[in-house]
Amino acid sequence: MNKDFIKTAVIGHPIAHSKSPLIHSHWLREHGLKGSYEAIDIEADALAESVRALVDRGYSGFNVTLPHKIAIMALCNEVDERAKAIGAVNTVSIRDGKLYGTNTDAFGFAQNVLCAGLDGWSFEDGAAVVLGAGGAARAVIYALLEEGAPSVILINRTREKAEELTQMDKKIMVEDWAKRDDALKGANLIVNTTSLGMEGKPPLEIDLSLAPSHALVTDIVYAPLYTDLLQQAKKRGLRVVTGAGMLLHQARAGFALWNGVMPEVTPELEERLLEA
Ligand code: ATR
Repeated sequence: MNKDFIKTAVIGHPIAHSKSPLIHSHWLREHGLKGSYEAIDIEADALAESVRALVDRGYSGFNVTLPHKIAIMALCNEVDERAKAIGAVNTVSIRDGKLYGTNTDAFGFAQNVLCAGLDGWSFEDGAAVVLGAGGAARAVIYALLEEGAPSVILINRTREKAEELTQMDKKIMVEDWAKRDDALKGANLIVNTTSLGMEGKPPLEIDLSLAPSHALVTDIVYAPLYTDLLQQAKKRGLRVVTGAGMLLHQARAGFALWNGVMPEVTPELEERLLEA
C-alpha cells in the first residue's frame, strides 16, 4: 500500500450534493499533499461490505453522513467517548485494517464560534438556548458543555425528544416550544439546530425581542447563509455567526487525523463553498 498517497472519502446516500470533496481537495492542494477525497454513494444495506472494500483498497479514513452515522458505529473496532456521547460517528480513521470512529461536529460547532473573533463574548458567560433536539443538537450540546456553558435551555417541538437529551448532563433544562420567545430572556447564546429556515422549509418562527443585547445568535442551517433567524438578529443589533463554518471546521479535524496537518478555514475557502 502506498502511504504517500492518502485516499479518503465521504460515504452516504444520497451523496452527490456533498460539499466535502470541494473542501478536502482544496486543502490537499493548498498543502501540496498527494491524496484524494471522493464522494462514494453507499446504500444502507451495502454498508458493511462497502466499508470492508475501502479497508481492502487502502483508504486512510472517511467521513460518514446520512443515513450511516449510527449504523457505522457497530462496524468500528473502537468508538471514542465523544462519538458515544453524541450517539453518532461522522469520521473514521483506518489503521492496520481497524476502524476508529469519532465525531467532529462538536469541534466544528465550537471552532466556528470561537474563530469568529467575538470580543468580550465567551461560552462561559451565560445560558445557551438550543432549538431542536435531533442529532445535530446532541453535537452542539456536547460542545457547549465542553466549552463551559453554565446551562443549556433545550427547546424542541416534540418535548419528549428534548427530555431524552437531558441524560447527557444535569445542566440541560427543557422548556416548551410554545414558550420559546420568553426563554430567550437570559440567553448568552441562541442556536438553531432544527431544519427550519433551510431553503424549501418554513422559517423558524421566533421573536428575539427579549434576548439580551450581548446574546450571540447562530444557525446550523447555511443554505441560505443568512436565515430569517440571523436576519432578525442582525436587525436587532445582535451578533451572528453563520452555519457554513460549522461544516468547514468539522472537516478540519478529519483532515488532520488522516493527513497529519490541521488546515485552516480561509475567506477564500468560505467563498468557494458558498459559490458551489
Ligand atoms: P438531525 O438529526 O439532522 O438534527 P432530525 O432528527 O430530523 O435531524 O431533527 C430535526 C429537528 O428539527 C428536530 O428537532 C425537529 O423537531 P421534532 O423533534 O419535533 O421533529 C425539528 N423540526 C423539524 N421540522 C420542524 C417544524 N416544522 N417545527 C418545529 N421543529 C421542527
